[in-house]
Amino acid sequence: MEIVVCKDKAEASRKAADMIAALVKRNPKCVLGLATGSTPVLMYGELAKDVKAKKISFRQVKTWNLDEYYGLAPTHDQSYRYFMNENLFKKIDIQIKNTHVLNGLAKDPVKECKAYEAAIKRAGGIDLQVLGIGSDGHIAFNEPGTSLKSRTSVVYLTPSTIKDNARLFFHGKLDEVPTRALSMGVGTICEAKRVVLLAFGKGKADAVKGMVEGGMSQFCTASALQAHNDAWVFCDEDAASKLKLKDYYAWRSATVLKG
Ligand code: F6R
Repeated sequence: MEIVVCKDKAEASRKAADMIAALVKRNPKCVLGLATGSTPVLMYGELAKDVKAKKISFRQVKTWNLDEYYGLAPTHDQSYRYFMNENLFKKIDIQIKNTHVLNGLAKDPVKECKAYEAAIKRAGGIDLQVLGIGSDGHIAFNEPGTSLKSRTSVVYLTPSTIKDNARLFFHGKLDEVPTRALSMGVGTICEAKRVVLLAFGKGKADAVKGMVEGGMSQFCTASALQAHNDAWVFCDEDAASKLKLKDYYAWRSATVLKG
């Protein structure tokens, strides 16, 4: 796992955007896995700037998102489909038919999850998966106690995630946050050829510490990335502040990035 420690989230977002932009340039038909939440918003803004400046085009890119709240319509202003349309898809030249978000209103959610996995496989698998990390160490909605081999399925949110999501979204209303979601599994995520995880702020420091320097455990599902051979973490000083080998990781990743 390469840990890129940046002075702030603006620098980290630009560096992560550069990695994605380089892939899109190299392979204009690449398959991206995308995340929602507050963390990737700046990075999506950077990618939108690149499109506007005609440095890259998403015309032939296909995307699959990590998760969606169960029970929310795609038109609901707190749904992840709505979030993606507003924060990225409307700002770039992607074809909306090439973007995929799990259907939170699926009548048969199990079938929906299976079909989602099959569609990713048919597309040739995910070339690069964008991730955030929950303060409890989750990736996608894979909460503590989820198998590190899990596949896309219906999952249950912890009280801490419900609280975090109410604070940042849902106008702070705890009882409006759905308690279930459809989510890519940890095993599904780990099949992506490259993984790019972003983490900002002191509130993520314990989760980052657990992911990088804790044992690999289903209690911190992000720790599964320790077994991935092309995982990148772009974080700010605060999120990296509890890492024992912070300076070493910063030096090593800078050297690797220079080539
Ligand atoms: C979002 C997702 C979640 C978030 C995580 C962090 O699609 O899968 O795992 O990445 O909850 O959320 P923020 O970025 O809002 O702190």
